[in-house]
Amino acid sequence: LKIAFFGDIVGKPGRRAAAALVPRLREEYKIHLVFANVENAAGGFGVNEKTIKELKAAGIDFMTSGNHIWDKKEGLEILDSAGFIVRPANFPGFPPGRGYGFAETDFGPVGVLNLQGRVFMPPIDCPFSAAGKLIADLERKCKIIIVDFHGEATSEKIAMGWHLDGRVSLVVGTHTHVPTSDQRILPGGTGYVTDIGMTGSYDSVLGVEKKAVLQRFLTMRPVRFDTAAGDVRADIIIGEIDEKSAKTVKLEHIQLKIED
Ligand SMILES: [Fe+2]
Ligand SMILES: [Fe+2]
Repeated sequence: LKIAFFGDIVGKPGRRAAAALVPRLREEYKIHLVFANVENAAGGFGVNEKTIKELKAAGIDFMTSGNHIWDKKEGLEILDSAGFIVRPANFPGFPPGRGYGFAETDFGPVGVLNLQGRVFMPPIDCPFSAAGKLIADLERKCKIIIVDFHGEATSEKIAMGWHLDGRVSLVVGTHTHVPTSDQRILPGGTGYVTDIGMTGSYDSVLGVEKKAVLQRFLTMRPVRFDTAAGDVRADIIIGEIDEKSAKTVKLEHIQLKIED
């Protein structure tokens, strides 16, 4: 099973890049299943029905998210209605949507679990204990499990990689929008990368118009953040998973550039 996973898609440039690249990935890399983190898909903050439908039509099979998924009220409904999008599973209370789901493939269902870190982020339920419990649920229905661990701290994400080594096929980190390029296969056969990176404008600060972010740091006053547009690139993780053992056998990071 060959999969591709796009780092956080930021705004319209990110959505355009993903749409342009999906056919190329399927053709050139023979990808069966395309994933993307979409927490920043609508104007950089959250999602709405239009952006999710647009990405689905562009060929993104399954979508994960993170802390920004709650940013647009109108985006919460689609979390309940669409079976192909998940939000972090370890939020307290009874949040809309699902923390895990299944992507249908010719190789059977692939489980997808979304978790969020707690280091340098708002303290939510423990992602490590949530992972243990939810993976036990997922294992009853599928062999191949892919985890998007959405977090700020590299240490917390690497620790999660070790925690899940041998229990899931792949752990990808998201949220920082910066590719760590430390992809490797852990001894138990779990593919791991600390952060995939970003799908969006690199002429920016993490996809946001750079003058506004600079203004924020220089004045420490609230500033309106708009999505940047230039130098659009996509950070993508390409993984090959053996269907029989559910182990990752090949993992690489690529960065593809989109013409402005
Ligand atoms: Fe993000
Ligand atoms: Fe995030």
